[in-house]
Amino acid sequence: MKKVFINGYGSIGSRIAQFIADDSDVKIVGVGKYSPDEKVEDAISRGFNVYVPEAKMNIFKDYKIDGAIENIVTDCDLVIDAAPGGMGYTNKKTLYEPKHVRAIFQGGEKITGDKAVAELIFNSRVNYEKAFEKRYVMQGSCNVTGMGRILQPLKEKYGKKIKRFDAILLRRWADLEDTKTPIKDSIEWSRRPHPNEDVKSYMGADTPLFIRAFKVPTRQMHVHLMDIRFDGLVPSISEILDLYKNEYGIATLYNVKGTKDIRDYAELMKFNFKDTNMIHIHEDLMEIQDYVIKLTYSDDQTGIVVPENHLLMQAMLFNRTRNEAFNHTERLFHMTEKKQLLEEHFSPT
Ligand SMILES: NC(=O)c1ccc[n+]([C@@H]2O[C@H](COP(=O)([O-])OP(=O)(O)OC[C@H]3O[C@@H](n4cnc5c(N)ncnc54)[C@H](OP(=O)(O)O)[C@@H]3O)[C@@H](O)[C@H]2O)c1
Repeated sequence: MKKVFINGYGSIGSRIAQFIADDSDVKIVGVGKYSPDEKVEDAISRGFNVYVPEAKMNIFKDYKIDGAIENIVTDCDLVIDAAPGGMGYTNKKTLYEPKHVRAIFQGGEKITGDKAVAELIFNSRVNYEKAFEKRYVMQGSCNVTGMGRILQPLKEKYGKKIKRFDAILLRRWADLEDTKTPIKDSIEWSRRPHPNEDVKSYMGADTPLFIRAFKVPTRQMHVHLMDIRFDGLVPSISEILDLYKNEYGIATLYNVKGTKDIRDYAELMKFNFKDTNMIHIHEDLMEIQDYVIKLTYSDDQTGIVVPENHLLMQAMLFNRTRNEAFNHTERLFHMTEKKQLLEEHFSPT
């Protein structure tokens, strides 16, 4: 059985830990905590061993801590790093490289420049096999992951007939459980949004993708407004929807008024963490104008990357075929059932 350590137990790390704990092919040797707060008890109550930095042992004296992060990483086959953006790079330099341990990084890191954590951004729909044998791989962020799910089927079917993808990303301000981050009454923008470069890194530098990104005051989900410009005849809306019918992690929904409707339904149905783990195409917002298809979808920011991390882990640790890995992930995440429930609930009638 392979041993995995989850370094960071926030929005993403706690989800990864909880889902992967049910995978009988791996053992979670522990999770890493950096602040002595209620999440330590949460991790312990879920049966995880908690490790903390050697230098911080004294501030955790009121908790049952299992040891130092610096020691446990030497006794595992893979670290799934879920540190705040940028800290994964520091961990790589100070911990993973010196201790010769392989690692998965999250989407807040970089793959170019002097703080790059890896050469590859993973997207299970696009480059699953490329992660075989790699020592370090970065899982794309939620926006980057969702966009790959939309773009790759279009690229495979229409190729050069597509002239441009113009996307506006409406990004959530903070996560549902991240109550410490105040939501500012403002719409903020990014000058050079990282998803543009990140998506092109795995879809190809010549992908005609142009992104603008705005952060809006909500905790619920991201929404992407994607205009797909064709060079001549445009496929029908039903042809585009057919393209996504059997895609993993994409549901097509009708009659949704806003992102909270989806979260509320996820809560009602007791989906873990209120996550759907997927993107949702909003069919009733689809339009064709001239040579452009206007596609709108929402992206479950916290949930979407969790099954992706599980797929990436399988590629790195077991070199499993893509099909085997997807079947295995499905047994833990039940995405097909969730998709069916969502599509039945948010249906045209
Ligand atoms: N949130 C999302 O929707 C989302 C989606 C996709 C990708 N991501 C990416 O996932 C990563 C983690 O984001 P998050 O939202 O989970 O952040 P988060 O909720 O703020 O959690 C970060 C966790 O990292 C821990 N930490 C602090 N210093 C650390 C260190 N040096 N090494 C390892 N862990 C450390 C924190 O521990 P303490 O609390 O104990 O201090 C906390 O548990 C980022 O790269 C982010 O861009 C986030």
